Amino acid sequence: MSLFQTKSVEQLQREAAGQHGLRRALSATNLVSLGIGAIIGAGIFVFTGQAAAQYAGPAIALSFVVSGLGCLFAGLCYAEFAAMIPIAGSAYTYAYATLGEFLAWIIGWDLILEYLFTSPSVAVGWSGHFVAFLKEFGIVVPPQLCSAPIDYVNGHYVLTGAIVNLPAVAIIFVLTLLLVIGIKESANFNNVMVVTKVSVLIFCIAFGAWFVIAHPDIAKANWTPFIPDNTGKFGEFGWSGILKGAGVIFFAYIGFDAVSTSAQEAKDPQRDMPKGILGSLAVCTVIFITFSFVLTGMAKYTTLNNAAPVVNALQAAGAPTWLRYIVEIAALMGLSSVCLVMLMGQPRIFFSMANDGLLPAVFAKTHPRFQTPYVTQIVTGLLACIIAGVLPLALLGELVNIGTLFAFVIVCAAIIVLRRRRPDLPRPFKTPLVPLIPLLGALVCLAQMVALPGDTWLRLVIWMVIGLAIYFGYSRHRSKLNNGGR
Ligand code: ALA
Repeated sequence: MSLFQTKSVEQLQREAAGQHGLRRALSATNLVSLGIGAIIGAGIFVFTGQAAAQYAGPAIALSFVVSGLGCLFAGLCYAEFAAMIPIAGSAYTYAYATLGEFLAWIIGWDLILEYLFTSPSVAVGWSGHFVAFLKEFGIVVPPQLCSAPIDYVNGHYVLTGAIVNLPAVAIIFVLTLLLVIGIKESANFNNVMVVTKVSVLIFCIAFGAWFVIAHPDIAKANWTPFIPDNTGKFGEFGWSGILKGAGVIFFAYIGFDAVSTSAQEAKDPQRDMPKGILGSLAVCTVIFITFSFVLTGMAKYTTLNNAAPVVNALQAAGAPTWLRYIVEIAALMGLSSVCLVMLMGQPRIFFSMANDGLLPAVFAKTHPRFQTPYVTQIVTGLLACIIAGVLPLALLGELVNIGTLFAFVIVCAAIIVLRRRRPDLPRPFKTPLVPLIPLLGALVCLAQMVALPGDTWLRLVIWMVIGLAIYFGYSRHRSKLNNGGR
């Protein structure tokens, strides 16, 4: 059988409509909320300040525009696919329908980098915030129990003397339990987190806006120069700094695509998937651009390279202590919901791959009472606990970015391919201006990939080589498509 054999869209649509054991419980509002739940987290609370200080200066707001445009173009492509082929496998399934089994496997394997590694990265961020929050009340967690035993310094892996990052493991464990119990319960928990974190961010924006209006001289000094001069190195300020900043804060946008993994649990996916994907992206883009702009108006960008830049900027602007506590709690909630939705996405991709025979059939089992893919949920939770317990944040974050950008490039390309091959298919949502929008989406995402460090590229290649070994050693022979099953 050819490596590029595709699965027919009609077959996929029949599977989406048929019995699959997952529970259709999510409304359009739930989907928008899931998207926002997955998006607002470590990216805005931690990486924005750090990227402003190191790469872009106050022009970090422009980095958000660049990265947001790439996400908008990719989001429009995701929306077309998710409404047309509402299957939990997301980009993996779209590639199966357009580019063939081999590329579908590559993208499925790549998506593991996004989903399986995002939750541990965010859990590690959560642990840092949690430990700092406890410290406010005099409770000190020993460093051996709240940091990674392995670190990556100047190109070498080193042992730090720590035992395990216990709070990071604990939060993943609790969220995994919730996800096994039910999609509806998880969505309700997520709704509460989302309302809190969005309200607090809007409040911070209002406080920041008040500050810059009341103190125009300070704000003007903080924003000058808006684009600091390049230091002579690619990515350190100037226009290349804006691009590098975009590659780093891209992490902040990750998550809108996770909405597509809940397509088989949406009540009306044809109608609501585009709303969930594009609605959550639109809300977050507006929040991110305004927030990053007022952040660098409240505090000089050079002071923002630390673990809690938002809290520090508020302090610099004279915000009351209670506001600091509230922001700390909102950050904890924000990070928990990102972790939750990302932990939810991974098993659903495993589920689709197992349904196609590319992974063992046990991965496609759903719980008879809870109607959740509980086997893969528990496997995902265990793997995420191990990763979160031992690896440091920066290494995880860059891996996630490169994996996700790669997935976006493939989804954009796949839209062009399917429009050519099957122009006749009914498309409940159509990406406008094809092929221009998908081409631009792929280009902006590729540009951000290029700005990421060489080490990260090497890890992506190693990950892919492992994936190829599994495909040729196992999946290709078990594939239902290759065995005439479909
Ligand atoms: N967008 C998510 C975050 O910033 C992954 O935490």
